Order: sequence, then structure tokens, then C-alpha cells
Amino acid sequence: MRVAVLEGGRSSEHEVSVASAAAVRAGLTEAGHEAVAVEISREGRWTHGGEPVTLRPAGGLLDCEVAFPVLHGPYGEDGTVQGLLEALDVPYAGAGVLASAVCMDKVVFKDLMQSAGVPQVGYAAVREGDDTAALAGLGLPVFVKPARMGSSLGISKVAAAEELPAALEAAFDQDRLAIVEAMAHGMEVECSVLGNEAPEASLPGEIVLEGDWYDYGAKYRPGGMELVVPARLPESALEHVRAMAVDVFTRVRCAGMARCDFFVEDPRGHPRVLLNELNTIPGFTQTSVYAKLFEASGLSYPRLLDRLVELALERHAREHR
Ligand SMILES: Nc1ncnc2c1ncn2[C@@H]1O[C@H](COP(=O)(O)OP(=O)(O)O)[C@@H](O)[C@H]1O
Ligand SMILES: [Mg+2]
Repeated sequence: MRVAVLEGGRSSEHEVSVASAAAVRAGLTEAGHEAVAVEISREGRWTHGGEPVTLRPAGGLLDCEVAFPVLHGPYGEDGTVQGLLEALDVPYAGAGVLASAVCMDKVVFKDLMQSAGVPQVGYAAVREGDDTAALAGLGLPVFVKPARMGSSLGISKVAAAEELPAALEAAFDQDRLAIVEAMAHGMEVECSVLGNEAPEASLPGEIVLEGDWYDYGAKYRPGGMELVVPARLPESALEHVRAMAVDVFTRVRCAGMARCDFFVEDPRGHPRVLLNELNTIPGFTQTSVYAKLFEASGLSYPRLLDRLVELALERHAREHR
């Protein structure tokens, strides 16, 4: 297959996307595909080999049979590029417009999961200028985040009430809406999901951190984090995590791939699994958690990419029947 790999993008996660995309192109090549790099600049310009890419509705994309968006954050992971690919009529890997948009917005996602009865931490949405008195009910520490971002950008852990205004400012630098969350205590566990109609979950992995929480440095600095697979949890809790990951994936009508992230409180006693988020385009280097969890589950990186290409074609064919 000739596969267009969309990389870079307009979000603050541009760098991360470029690293993921280089690995995806190498893996696709290894799997026997032809990878075509489509570079999206920070200004939103699309180029291929330095030449501007011309887009025509229903006109495809550089004669590629499939597109693989490897874009993190707003303007890439949020349904905007997915909508454009629908208009071009190119099959593409991963979630469609709805699931992409829902998962990008932490407030909409949490509200939806709450209405479905999925266990999560307590939280509140905050707009600039809102009265923050009610946030005291969440206790301390709290995590303050922009509603739509990733890679821990704009997130602060607030241990004392007087730190809250600066933390909200940092979140509002990224988005006009912020979310403030009660702190979960315990283990961070992530589970990769792959599939369309009958999605499968990988073995869950445990994130072991050097520092206090999983910030940008811990995510991308070598040695900032250690992944333990499977997570050191009782078998029943591992099964529960996998079932929840598939349930959440299905509820938001995700497709192709996603990484579902959890907090597990009291992991060695009576584990209580809380949903954190669903990432529709998780970090995608060969050593990223998404791929490593499938590797530990017996699926190599090139095979994983190959499967995602197949799933993209399968979904496109089904939806255009
Ligand atoms: N409510 C919370 N309780 C404990 N830790 C949290 C909480 N929210 C976020 N964190 C920490 O911050 C990290 C990033 O938060 P997350 O919501 O996953 O944002 P991002 O979308 O940027 O990955 C988490 O992996 C975790 O280490
Ligand atoms: Mg996260």
C-alpha cells in the first residue's frame, strides 16, 4: 500500500508528532508498504518533499491508498484532520471525527463517561473569571489542566490553595477551558486497544516514574519512566482494566487504535480502577507505550502498523457500502 503519513501539525505537540511519524514511516516500510511523508507546518501548511500539497474534495491524497495521521493534540487528534480526510475520501488509520473530538476534550469526555457510570476522579470545569470557591470540595492536591491538550503540556499539580491562580493561568494559556481534578493515589496503568467492531486490549502496563507525576520530561526524557508489563496487579484487576479499556473504546465509537489510561488506587490491597483518558493518537515510536504493550502481547511494530492499515481500509469500505 502507498500510505500518506501525516506529521508535524499545528499543535504544541508538533515535535512529538515528528518523532512518532519517523518511526511509523520506518515501520510501514519494514512491513512492505510505501510511506509518503506529508509534513504539516506549525502554520498549517501541507508539503510533500518541499512542494505544497494540493487538496481537492474527493480527490484523494497524493495517490495514496490510505492515510495515517500521526498528529497529537488540537488540529490533528481532535477530528479536524479526520474530517478533512473524509472530504478527500481517503481511508485513514485510527478514530473518526466524533471519537477524535470527544477524546480531545477532557471535560466533554469525562461528562460522557460519568453519565455512563464509568468510575473517575472528582472534577470541575473552570472558565476564565469563574468563582473557584467550589473547587475546595476536591481537596488538595488537585491537577489543573487545559481541556484540550496532551503530553502534559499546561498541566500543574497544585498542593496549596495559593498556587491555584497561577496553575489556572498556565492552563488558560493553552485553552479557554480548564479542568481541575481531585488527585488519584496509586498506580498509573495504560492499556492499548486495537480493532474496529471487535476491539482487542493488550496486556496492561504500569508506568513507574522517577519523579512525582508523569509530566512532559518524564514522558520524553530517556529514563524518565519505566514501563512494567504486565502491571503488578492481581489477575482479576488486569482483566478488569482490559475490559474497561474495550468498553470505553466502544462507548466513544473509537476505531483502529487508542491507548486507554487509568489510575489504580490501592493496587496491592483492594484495587479500584479509575478511568483517566483515552488517547486516540497515542505516542507512536517503537518504544512508545502503545507499541510496547502490543509487543509484549506478541504483536511486532511492523505487524501492528500493517493491521492499522487493514483496519482503515475495512472501516472505509464498510462506511461507504
Ligand atoms: N487526577 C489525577 N490524579 C493523579 N495524577 C494525575 C491526575 N491527573 C493527571 N495526573 C498526572 O498527570 C499526567 C498527565 O495527565 P493527563 O490527564 O493524562 O494529561 P495528558 O493528556 O497531557 O496526558 C498523568 O499521567 C498523571 O501522572
Ligand atoms: Mg495522559
